[in-house]
Amino acid sequence: MKLLNFGSLNIDLVYRMDHLVRPGETQAAQSFARFPGGKGLNQSVALARAGATVLHAGKVGPDGALLLDTLRDAGADVSPVAVGPEPSGHAVIQVERSGQNSIIIYPGANGCITRAEMDAALAKMDAGDWILLQNEINGIPAIMEKAKARGLKIAFNPAPMDQGVRAYPLELVDLFVVNETEAAALTGLTEEADALAAMERTYPNAIHVVTLGARGSLCSANGQRYTVEAKKVQAVDTTAAGDTYIGYFLALLMEGAPVDVCMETATRASAIAVSRMGAAPSIPLRSEL
Ligand code: RIB
Repeated sequence: MKLLNFGSLNIDLVYRMDHLVRPGETQAAQSFARFPGGKGLNQSVALARAGATVLHAGKVGPDGALLLDTLRDAGADVSPVAVGPEPSGHAVIQVERSGQNSIIIYPGANGCITRAEMDAALAKMDAGDWILLQNEINGIPAIMEKAKARGLKIAFNPAPMDQGVRAYPLELVDLFVVNETEAAALTGLTEEADALAAMERTYPNAIHVVTLGARGSLCSANGQRYTVEAKKVQAVDTTAAGDTYIGYFLALLMEGAPVDVCMETATRASAIAVSRMGAAPSIPLRSEL
């Protein structure tokens, strides 16, 4: 079984700050670094480092070599990635002392994917394979519909959440992975157990995972609920913690592991990721777990 991750590729411009810049404030950064990132790329790196067979689709510009090399080095197949004239997407990321971040994304090439490029990527997949989507590229509803028509199983991480997501054909989704903010935005319920119950009622055939940062994660699958606590680590940079969790969870699920094992393994991988700087470079190899 293989997985197509149709997702963003960003160059992350990362500024280490005393605290996140407030409105009207000017603050000098303590350090600056440039890392490969993007929720899509990070999740493909996590899948590949977990041992899954992953193809990455998306779009970069003429400046995209770092992004493609990162995916190739991790073991992902980048043949479905299109290259266009628009610059690659980028993110401006502040990381404060606690490891918390704030992120601005500029979509660039991530927002310029054509219907023909969608069809070409999907043509590499067979019925029963998985497709993974986040919300940092254009055309998500069309990709969902085309993927389902090919018989693919759909995993969706609606990040970053926006007003448009609720109008997507979410009834086609087989696996949702959301954080507490996204769960609240999807359901209108701020208590995560209530939000999970509402998601179960609305999409009863899907697996639902709610990640809760330092509080762990919840899952609902096949009529059962699961809870896993987070590992206690010294957070250096929380960027890509959720991406690491998603990649590892799905890789284990594709292997046929029980849901609680998928959660536990994903939790250990993301704990390592938050103890290191950067997005993709912080994602551990399976052997490190
Ligand atoms: O989830 C972390 C990612 O969000 C960063 O790598 C950044 O590029 C944004 O997409």
